[in-house]
Order: sequence, then structure tokens, then C-alpha cells
Amino acid sequence: MADQPYYVTTPIYYVNDKPHIGHAYTTLACDVLARFHRLDGDDVHFLTGTDEHGQKVEKSAQAAGVDPQTFTDQVSENFRTLAAEMNYSNDDFIRTTEARHLHSTQELWRKIRDNGHIYLGSYAGWYAVRDEAFYAESELTKNEKGDRLAPSGAEVEWVEEPSYFFDLSKWQQPLLDFYAANPDFIGPDTRRNEVVSFVAGGLNDLSVSRTSFKWGIPVPDDPEHIMYVWLDALNNYQTAVGYPDTESDLYSKYWPADLHMVGKDILRFHAVYWPAFLMAADLAPPKRVYAHGWLLNRGEKMSKSLGNVVTAGDLVGRYGLDPVRYYLLREVPFGQDGYISHETMVGRINGDLANDLGNLAQRVLSMIAKNCDAKVPQPQPLTDDDTTIIGAATNVLGTVRDEFERQAFHRGLEAIWKIVGDANRYVDAQAPWELRKSDPDRMATVLYVLADVIRRLAILVQPIMPGSASSMLDQLAIPADARSFAALGSEPAVTPGAELPKPSPVFPRFVDEEAAG
Ligand code: MSP
Repeated sequence: MADQPYYVTTPIYYVNDKPHIGHAYTTLACDVLARFHRLDGDDVHFLTGTDEHGQKVEKSAQAAGVDPQTFTDQVSENFRTLAAEMNYSNDDFIRTTEARHLHSTQELWRKIRDNGHIYLGSYAGWYAVRDEAFYAESELTKNEKGDRLAPSGAEVEWVEEPSYFFDLSKWQQPLLDFYAANPDFIGPDTRRNEVVSFVAGGLNDLSVSRTSFKWGIPVPDDPEHIMYVWLDALNNYQTAVGYPDTESDLYSKYWPADLHMVGKDILRFHAVYWPAFLMAADLAPPKRVYAHGWLLNRGEKMSKSLGNVVTAGDLVGRYGLDPVRYYLLREVPFGQDGYISHETMVGRINGDLANDLGNLAQRVLSMIAKNCDAKVPQPQPLTDDDTTIIGAATNVLGTVRDEFERQAFHRGLEAIWKIVGDANRYVDAQAPWELRKSDPDRMATVLYVLADVIRRLAILVQPIMPGSASSMLDQLAIPADARSFAALGSEPAVTPGAELPKPSPVFPRFVDEEAAG
């Protein structure tokens, strides 16, 4: 449906560390959805940013020997660089140290407090700085040295201090009712079931302020306390659309958010705490939270301590931007954990991209350049085979839309590549090179049909590979205003007689220098 608001968010990333491909992966998925919805005519707001408060960031700043603000200014910049490097199309970049966020989050606190859901007490329990999370004794395990570890493997420390609490225990039934009434709220389904059973098992009130360090947003009317970093961080999604001004154009248009994309490690914060905070403030929870899996390198989640960190720059420098964007969303079924490797990367680049899509475009465009005076050929009436392939390339949009709506990127891409395969088989069956002498009119028609199929494929892959798709569309002389999904079904498609530039390959093969020796 055109003109619908669509608000999609990434997690805001901790500025304790440089970004790696895992961070790039989450934002990439959101970028693809944002671009897809824009091409579908929707009014998109795509947000990313950085999570700059809390003990973890404060400690990292201390370790770096600089004050937290200087530190966060530096590290936050790395995430902006990543956005440029990966060609993300975010509309906003939020930092939780901005004034707009301080104001918004203090107002949210006031609202929850005034509604009677925050009380003063004292916290005594375990806290993992790495996760910025509280854990019950029963959740912990011990390592060989006898240190207690959180389920994530993070070390925990004993914390005892005055603290404000949020009455999370009272939200068990409202949350369960909310999940039941909104079956699409959490995806994928396996994760949804985990969250529902966690909540059904009972909820404890949540400590939402700390007094033992300073780097955070002060609690209104009691600045000795600073807010729990997750309450602060989650509210970025509202700040960016104008909260507390719920009457503003931005807020009324975009809230509740259509999708919070997160890694599975932070689902509980988004699918349990966040809707509870919002309900406690009489605000609407987001429409959907999707938890994707981890990208694993050598079988482990990437981490600095394991020394298996791969950055987006490493991959892009070696394989090129659009191939990396394609690979990440095609290779690993979205939602599951998956491995990335040089072998599978090269397989996708040389198979799906160079041989299948690239070669299709290259051979058709070269034939047009050689045999049709470098102009889009004039077709004769189309045969059933012609209309079948054009129809398939048009109708696949419906499948792709459905799959992307469920964040099944790999399946959407598979559907597009089925059409690429059909188109290559059509070329082989029609053998336009044999028609050159025997039936030049038919050759012109076949090349016209193919040019039009390639146009549709290029339009479809724009969200995933914007640069390569645009180069394909340039080579077909498709004007900028005829590249949206609405143009997929338009006739005439490519314009007979239009002059085409000299074709150049869009997806070169990857030549493995080590293997080539
Ligand atoms: N600051 C919190 C999020 C607050 S959102 C209100 C946080 N930040 S983080 O820097 O640790 O980034 C977490 C997100 O990065 C994960 O949820 C996930 O989306 C992404 N990833 C980090 N490592 C990853 C992999 N190895 N693989 C896939 N995604 C990964 O948590």
C-alpha cells in the first residue's frame, strides 16, 4: 500500500567498541527494509544511532584515559563512518547524549512515576556490566575459577545500593494479553514462544536507577540517581520522533514504530521491558520486534577477546560493497545463527552474481550493442513465452514483499533469483544469436523482452544492491523517476529506440589470488 508511514529502527550501538560486521548486519537488514518501503511508495523513517550512557561506556572511557563525552564523541563517529561505508539510507542518527534525548527520557520517567509505577527501594543483587543487566542468582553459572557468570558468559558483580524500581511484576498479565492480541509482535515464532514462556514464568520488579556511578541521565527530582541505561536507551526510539510531544507531526505519523530490529541477545529488553514501560506511560508499544541470529566467525560470536572480529571494511575492501550486502542477507537464513566464510562468499559472488544475474545482463546488453545499433530494439507482437517471463518478473514483487515483511530476506532473494534462472533459460531457448540472420525481427523482440526483464530485476534488487542496480538501470537508459516498484508493471517498459550507453559488466567474478597462485 502506498503512502503508508513506515518507521524502522536498529538497536543503538554501545560506543565501548568499534563496529564490526555483526553491527553492520543488523543495520543492513533495516536499510533493505527502508529502501524497499520507499520504492513501494511508503513514507519511511529509518533510525539508527549510538547508546552512550552506562557503566560499560564509562569504564571503556576510563580505560582509554579520556572523559566519557570525548570518548563517546570519538566512538560514535565510527558508527557514522560505518553508515557511509555500507551505504545505509538512515533518515536520522540519534545519540543518547543529545539534549533532545535527555528531555524526552526524563519526561517518560515522570509519566511512568506519576502513573504510580516507580517506587524507591534498594537493590542487592548481581549485575553484569557487559550486558548492562541484572540477574537472579538462579540464572548464574560458575566457571573453573569459581567466578559467577551470566547466561551470556559475562562476568557479574554484586551491587547493593538505593534504587528506584519499576513495578514490572504487575505487567505480567497485560503483557501476556498483549502478545495474544498481537501475534506478529515478536518474530521469528521460536523467539516469540521463548518470550511468552519467560513472562508466563513470572516477572520481578526491575531496578531502574543506579547511584554508584554518574554517566547517565539523572532521575528527575532526585539527581543522585541516574537512570538504568536500558530505560534510557530504549526510549531513543521515541525521542527520534519527537517524544514527549505526542501531538507532533512526526510522533503522530510514526509512533508506534513498525519494526524494531534487534539481535536475539537483546530481545527480552525490547519485547518485555519496553512494552511494559510504554504501557505504564499510557503509550502504544511498537508493532513488531524481530530478533535475528548471530553471525559467527569460526563458530563463535565475534568478540574482541576471541580475536575473531571481522569489520565491514574488511569485507567490503575485499569483495566490494554490493556483493557483501547481497551475501549477508542471502547466505544466512535471517533469524538463525550462521557462518560467514570466504568460500561461501566467493560461491555467491561468482555464482548468483557474476554467472547468473551479471552474465544475463552482460550478454543481452552486448547483443543489443552489437546487433541493434546500441538502441532498445523495436518488438513485434509478443509470444506466450515472452509474456510469461515478463509476467513472472513483475509478479515476483508480491512474493518478495511478503517474505521481506516477515524479514525472510533469504527467501525473497531466492524468489528473485528463480526469475534470473528462468530468464537465462529463456535466452538459451530463444537463442537470439541464431535468429540474427534467420529472423531479425524475432531477435529484436527477444532482446526487447530480455531488456525489459532485466529492467524489472534491477528495480527489484535496488534495496539490496543499490549501486549495482542503478548501474544496470543506467545501462538500460531508465530515467530516475521510473525506478520505483510502481514502474514494474508499466508499459512500455524499456523504450524502443532509446539509445543505450556502452555496456559494462556490473558483477565481476572474484578471482582468488591465493588459489590462482
Ligand atoms: N546498546 C545496546 C542496544 C540498545 S537498543 C535500545 C546493545 N548494543 S550492542 O552494541 O551490543 O549491539 C547489539 C546489537 O548488535 C545486537 O543486538 C545485534 O543486533 C548486533 N550484533 C552484535 N554482534 C553480532 C553478531 N556477531 N552477529 C549479529 N549481530 C550482532 O546491545
